[in-house]
Amino acid sequence: MLDTVLILSLPIVGDKGAFPRYRGTVKIHVANHPLITHKLTVLRDENTNSPTFRQLVEELVMLLAYEATREVKTVPQKIKTPVAETTGLVLAKPRPVVVPILRAGLGMLEGMTRLIPTAEVGFLGMVRDEKTLQASTYANRLPEDLTGRQCYILDPMLATGGTLIAAMNYLIEKGAQDITAITILAAPEGIKNVEDAFATSNFPITIVTGAMDEKLNDLGYIVPGLGDAGDRLYGVV
Ligand code: URA
Repeated sequence: MLDTVLILSLPIVGDKGAFPRYRGTVKIHVANHPLITHKLTVLRDENTNSPTFRQLVEELVMLLAYEATREVKTVPQKIKTPVAETTGLVLAKPRPVVVPILRAGLGMLEGMTRLIPTAEVGFLGMVRDEKTLQASTYANRLPEDLTGRQCYILDPMLATGGTLIAAMNYLIEKGAQDITAITILAAPEGIKNVEDAFATSNFPITIVTGAMDEKLNDLGYIVPGLGDAGDRLYGVV
């Protein structure tokens, strides 16, 4: 009985609701896997140092990317095994485009390209004003035309969603076919903002996240979160 009381009184991080959930053409998938939760717990710990943090982010991206690439386009390919002829599936061309949002999204790139080594990589530099929380673009290196391309945005923290919405609109304007964002943590407020922005747009958007946390604080940080992802990956600049 005592055990039960203790367990019930522990704070539970994140939304354990039914996922994936859909609003219009926006799909939200929150990973619910003990291995991911374990790695997230070590990642959140303020005592975890930068090298361990970077390693964990890489491992988490690989696990999340497995789910995020479920709808990646493939084409049949005939091959000969040592035993028989068969037809398998290989990634279609043009290859998917992976877009890390600088700076923190860079920490997720290695894990993603390990999973899809042939993906093309574009970069989007976005910064948010700490007072207004508005996102603006300061750099981009992307194919001019993304027509028919599946795009995977990498950004560890979905806080207000401002950066992600701006990045998604940017890729849509360039012709992206569909967009999947992979985030390590998300706040319910940010998820709702993305849903509000795209649910009636008919544009296919997927968000795959390691956990949905409780809320944003007054400074726009995810609670309990992990602090500033860029600083934890690369140190305070
Ligand atoms: N960006 C971060 O790095 N951390 C947060 O909690 C929110 C936005």
